[in-house]
Amino acid sequence: MIAEPEPVGDRLVLTGRIVSASNAVLVGELDALPVVYKPVAGERPLHDFPDGTLAAREVAAYAVSRATGWDVVPETRLVDGPAGIGMLQRWVETDPEQPAIVLVPADAVPEGMLHVLDGVGIDDEPVALVHEDTAALRRIAVLDLVTNNADRKGGHVLERADGHRHGIDHGLTMHVDHKLRTVLWGWIDEPFSDEEVAGIRRVIAALDGELGEVLDALLASSEVDALAARCEALLARGTFPEPRPGRPAVPWPPF
Ligand SMILES: Nc1ncnc2c1ncn2[C@@H]1O[C@H](COP(=O)(O)OP(=O)(O)OP(=O)(O)O)[C@@H](O)[C@H]1O
Ligand SMILES: [Mg+2]
Repeated sequence: MIAEPEPVGDRLVLTGRIVSASNAVLVGELDALPVVYKPVAGERPLHDFPDGTLAAREVAAYAVSRATGWDVVPETRLVDGPAGIGMLQRWVETDPEQPAIVLVPADAVPEGMLHVLDGVGIDDEPVALVHEDTAALRRIAVLDLVTNNADRKGGHVLERADGHRHGIDHGLTMHVDHKLRTVLWGWIDEPFSDEEVAGIRRVIAALDGELGEVLDALLASSEVDALAARCEALLARGTFPEPRPGRPAVPWPPF
């Protein structure tokens, strides 16, 4: 990584830590605005992604999201903070009344929800994993295809009260190998909307300019090339893909 982190020193005031997270996820305020800060030093090593690269992948996913014009990823920057280099992201207030992705009793799938998979709950009762059918959630699914997201769990979609949906936790993106693991399988074989196609086209166009420069400083050049190739392949295909055989299609645990 050759991107220059922005020194945030005293401006970042840390107030807590999300203890359920598998990596160090610190919360605080930057210039009185709520943020999360995920230092590279707190990244848990993984077998299939190079060590110390998750923060840069999160910033790269934000840059791609910006290029789509969809505002999927909350503003994310590479910073040098109290625990060293890491990613800093704007905190998003969520509305618990409108979960986009839920486990429901298998015989009680709410009207309009799309079915992803069946399972059993903690008392052995049959349950179904379902998600809403909204343009906002589809945009997240398209961004996951573009960025090759290996970790789209239920908890990585933030539901805003106004209906907008944000995607978070993009540390496991941009790998050159196919890694897509997601709970958003409700649109298999459905054609991309004009707006979705236009967003993918905007990424391709931006790769020739500022986006390309930003990503070259954050990712390996092979990863930037793979991103461009995925965009072209998605446009050629024109529809949401189905899971590829032989590898897990859903992250575990799914929430
Ligand atoms: N920008 C944000 N706005 C609001 N909440 C956030 C934001 N980023 C993270 N969170 C909260 O912090 C939790 C943990 O963050 P994140 O998933 O990025 O870290 P993680 O180490 O991968 O954790 P996990 O193992 O739980 O996935 C999220 O599930 C979410 O509740
Ligand atoms: Mg996570």
